[in-house]
Amino acid sequence: MTRPDARASGQFAIGGTNVTRLGYGAMRVTGPGIWGEPKDRQESLRTLKRLPALGVNFIDTADSYGPYVSEDLIAEALHPYDGMMIATKGGLTRNGPDKWETLGRPEYLRQCVMMSLRRLKVEQIDLWQLHRIDPKVPQDEQFGVIKEMLQAGLIRHAGLSQVSVEEIKAAQKVFTVATVQNRYNLADRADEKVLAYCETQGIGFIPWFPLAAGDLAKPGGSFDAISKAHRATPGQIALAWMLKRSPVILPIPGTSQVRHLEENVAAAQIQLSAEEFKALDALGQ
Ligand SMILES: NC(=O)c1ccc[n+]([C@@H]2O[C@H](COP(=O)([O-])OP(=O)(O)OC[C@H]3O[C@@H](n4cnc5c(N)ncnc54)[C@H](OP(=O)(O)O)[C@@H]3O)[C@@H](O)[C@H]2O)c1
Repeated sequence: MTRPDARASGQFAIGGTNVTRLGYGAMRVTGPGIWGEPKDRQESLRTLKRLPALGVNFIDTADSYGPYVSEDLIAEALHPYDGMMIATKGGLTRNGPDKWETLGRPEYLRQCVMMSLRRLKVEQIDLWQLHRIDPKVPQDEQFGVIKEMLQAGLIRHAGLSQVSVEEIKAAQKVFTVATVQNRYNLADRADEKVLAYCETQGIGFIPWFPLAAGDLAKPGGSFDAISKAHRATPGQIALAWMLKRSPVILPIPGTSQVRHLEENVAAAQIQLSAEEFKALDALGQ
């Protein structure tokens, strides 16, 4: 077997900074309900430490993962990051396992950034994303504080998460939107319009929950045949499809295990034929 190498997925410039397209999502190095420490802390650290050797240099996290646990582990495993881009998010509060609430007041968003800087042990956050737009706070107040933090150099690039085309356009009037992170995978295509808009703007589109192949991957179907032809798992085929789907897509499969990380990274080397891509695309539509 060839050694897994994320660099086979190609490069994308996030606001002018190049990253390897196949990245890593660090939400899973936490406890059940994305709360507290992971069950196997050492394996989580090994997983993070394995990233550079596999060519992964784009990591997605959030202050609310744990909360704080994911950012702390990333710093412990990888600081000073040497050529990696660490993207984090803020704007959600946590008051228990699986409990998430939006809080977009400007003073809180500023605190999120200041505390992520401390936990990640950096002077500037490479990419900071507003985890959710808070409907209780005027949008422009939230976008305005992002603009101020960009101007102050606290964050280098800024992005949004779970947004519509209209919301991206509104934000673009205030600051440069470098990335958009929405739920999207082969079996969940509700945000095709957002992806298309990101393509026209050169905005990086970071699909979360990227591994889901759902019912499509049931044994016996054409998905199954394509997986077998490439000796790949359904998850790997779902990732390979995503990488071929658009050059602005930056998948961030998440795992807390080295074995799964290596399997996911190996998807970068799977070359789907045009026919296979079409067949998968039709299945997902
Ligand atoms: N912006 C948002 O609102 C938002 C929401 C959710 C997630 N995210 C981001 O998106 C990233 C990815 O999303 P996600 O973690 O929900 O979904 P995902 O990457 O599609 O799936 C992760 C799940 O699949 C398992 N897994 C991973 N690789 C596997 C493999 N090769 N074989 C079998 N199981 C495997 C993981 O468990 P193991 O740990 O056991 O491998 C984990 O339970 C997150 O890490 C986070 O950074 C963002």
